[in-house]
Amino acid sequence: MNNVIEEILVSEKQIAEACKRLGSEITKDYENKDLVLVGLLKGCIPFLSDLAKHIELPLEVQYMIVSSYHGGTASSNEIQIKYDLEVPIKDRDILLVEDIIDTGQTIKAVKKLFETRGAKSIKVVSLLDKKDNNNLKAEYVGFTIPNKFVLGYGLDFQQKYRNLPYIGVLKKEFYDK
Ligand code: PRP
Ligand code: MN
Ligand code: MG
Repeated sequence: MNNVIEEILVSEKQIAEACKRLGSEITKDYENKDLVLVGLLKGCIPFLSDLAKHIELPLEVQYMIVSSYHGGTASSNEIQIKYDLEVPIKDRDILLVEDIIDTGQTIKAVKKLFETRGAKSIKVVSLLDKKDNNNLKAEYVGFTIPNKFVLGYGLDFQQKYRNLPYIGVLKKEFYDK
């Protein structure tokens, strides 16, 4: 398993601490609100599951599968919805849960979509945030990371390694392929 990992960027312990910290911030901020966690599959799974345990509120969990069109024109912020929410979100407080904000394209497009659906508020919590992503900031961020290929704890390399308990950096020899 470890033969594709150059180094551990965020340890299991650091992830656990971040989930606790973010969970208690969110608990404070969303008291008496109609909180819906919207997880973007598949990368969100471990983070959403650990984070939600630290949000001490009666929240609802919904999921979506979207794919953003990477490599298109810079202004393109369309997404293809592969699996949609089960419920309308009009007048509800939406917190998007992501494992990573890379270019920011996915989050930007989903936020825009939810605005058109009439959400009361739309915020983002992401475990990882890369430094240079369209000036798009998540309201809640676990770790700001350099622009390297990372994997583990939900993040895949060719659909594998999502089950690693930490965030690792992919070895260059694999990255170059
Ligand atoms: C990855 C990641 C984020 C998105 C970030 O998902 O989990 O959802 O890309 O990229 P962006 O900020 O440049 O839009 P991916 O599309 O690989 O799907 P997955 O979660 O199923 O791995
Ligand atoms: Mn994803
Ligand atoms: Mg992926």
